[in-house]
Amino acid sequence: MKKNKISKNWINKQNRDIYVRDSRDQGYRSRSAFKLIEIDQRFHFLSKSRTLLDLGSVPGSWSQVASKKIKGGKILSVDIKEMLPISNTIFLKGDFTKLETQNKIKKFFNTRIDTVVSDMASNTTGNKELDSLKTGNLCLNTIEFSRKILKTNAYFVSKIFMGAIFNEIQIRAKEIFKEVLIFKPKSSRKESKEIYIFCRNLRISND
Ligand SMILES: C[S@@+](CC[C@H](N)C(=O)[O-])C[C@H]1O[C@@H](n2cnc3c(N)ncnc32)[C@H](O)[C@@H]1O
Repeated sequence: MKKNKISKNWINKQNRDIYVRDSRDQGYRSRSAFKLIEIDQRFHFLSKSRTLLDLGSVPGSWSQVASKKIKGGKILSVDIKEMLPISNTIFLKGDFTKLETQNKIKKFFNTRIDTVVSDMASNTTGNKELDSLKTGNLCLNTIEFSRKILKTNAYFVSKIFMGAIFNEIQIRAKEIFKEVLIFKPKSSRKESKEIYIFCRNLRISND
């Protein structure tokens, strides 16, 4: 297929997509906002959080959702790419997998926090198994970091792409958290292998 035909198809698909239209109408930077809104409608955790870390935040729709729900708390958004400012939210530019970034995050909060949400996804290669593995490793990394920064009664959400690494993620999550649930929001495209893992309450913590 020619390049301009592919982009015309993409534009048509976007225009037909109700979540794209709703995100434009409601001022969200991307349709991803509705994924976090749905996860919150199911598990009711945002309004119970006062401190939240949003990993892989760009363009910023999850942070916009969090910022509407969390007033008078602390929200830190982190991404490798630059993010335009969002009220009520501090942005840190950095690679989450780097120790330097993780130390800056710990320093920013300076205490254990209520919630970690991660929509991080590594650049897609077209090889679905490899993409699942790379994003799965980001999720595993986030779980390990979360046990060091989350309070005992805390919430954790992360994107995963279904694939061979899924079982390893579930096993590790169940070792760390008391409750581990898998959720596919309606706003996550059916054809996508994307799902979300929601975890509540630390089983163990490690200072
Ligand atoms: C699907 S987008 C997130 C969309 C966002 N939740 C929103 O609602 O606007 C995934 C993001 O993860 C970021 N990302 C990927 N690897 C990362 C890493 N190692 N550290 C920080 N951000 C990363 C990418 O730069 C990208 O912006």
